[in-house]
Amino acid sequence: MSMEPATSRRIEDGDETTVDARRHRLLAWYDDHARDLPWRCRTDLYGTWISEVMLQQTTVAAVIPRWSAFLQRFPDVHALAAAGEHDVLTAWSGLGYYRRARMLHRAAREVVDRYGGRLPTTHADWRDLPGIGDYTAGAIASIGLGLPTAAVDANVKRVLTRWTCADDGAARDLTAKALQALATNHVPAERPGDWNQALMDLGAGHCRSGEPDCVGCPVLEVCAAGAAGTGRHVPPPPVRETSRPVLLSALVLRRDGRVLLVPSEESVVTRCRGLGRPSRDDVSGLYVGMLGLPTTPWYHAGAADTAKLTAPWRRWLAGRGSGACEVRDRGWVRHAITVYRLQVLVCVADWAGDPDAVTVPGSLWIAGSAADQPISTLARKILQQTSLE
Ligand code: ADE
Repeated sequence: MSMEPATSRRIEDGDETTVDARRHRLLAWYDDHARDLPWRCRTDLYGTWISEVMLQQTTVAAVIPRWSAFLQRFPDVHALAAAGEHDVLTAWSGLGYYRRARMLHRAAREVVDRYGGRLPTTHADWRDLPGIGDYTAGAIASIGLGLPTAAVDANVKRVLTRWTCADDGAARDLTAKALQALATNHVPAERPGDWNQALMDLGAGHCRSGEPDCVGCPVLEVCAAGAAGTGRHVPPPPVRETSRPVLLSALVLRRDGRVLLVPSEESVVTRCRGLGRPSRDDVSGLYVGMLGLPTTPWYHAGAADTAKLTAPWRRWLAGRGSGACEVRDRGWVRHAITVYRLQVLVCVADWAGDPDAVTVPGSLWIAGSAADQPISTLARKILQQTSLE
């Protein structure tokens, strides 16, 4: 495929006729092809707020079951504000990025304190709440309030870039400010929420990243990259942070059919010998307020040495007066957190000693699946694996 030389870079923001054509075509397409998503059926502002916060950094597929369950548990802002953090984090578990749940909770309390429980009615007031950035405020204001505000996330940026840049050079010249202006210029006064969601659906479908599917795209005729056949080069792929493989070990400590969970701030319980310096020995920032399994620090992944990852648990348990407590290794669990690729050796031991000897403040001995506890997805995965024994 021939690319235009750099000297002919063009950014076409489009005259009003082009912008209008995009609006008409995309909204007509949305009327027939909108994804059937639960938050699109319940159109109250509270539901929109919750869905947009959940959809920050989490896929639509993961949000679908969580959104309905969360609304059942906390049907309005008063219920959410009155809840304890533990309950909010529990309802959030599985969605990851738990800071969002704590911010949402704080925002609910602010809405009750500041506005007597009435949700804000302007973009600026939404933007002022904890955990709400430009994108989320724009999405809530347009979808929930019908205000003509843009909502520019990575998908929307890609769509707008392809509409207006015929080559990767032009795409590199397109600044964030210019993109925001383009997005704002395209938002129609009528149906702004549908417009933003149509852009999201186009970005998740025909105009996906990598190889777009331009055949059948409703706006192909008004798309610069589509017309030039250069869609897959525009925008150029981001330079990705390389993933970081790490090794660690987690302990499933059982007693009378229960398993020990510890607060994430205290979850790094013991160090390993012979694995070098930990690459990270405080992971609590990722999981503040959550419960997890006792773990070792994270080590740079080298040879996966099961003996070195099992030994610290024997030492740790012996130091708590267990006498002989057998520690068995139950294989590996893999899990990704941001750029980290975790390879976790799961160790299991049965504790017959004093239950208080192995706990720290905030620990719990839980029975069953821990469904009613705010535990990380990693801990849940490990518990599922060991419950099959
Ligand atoms: N991503 C963020 N908000 C969304 C929405 N309302 N619909 C689909 N995907 C989204």
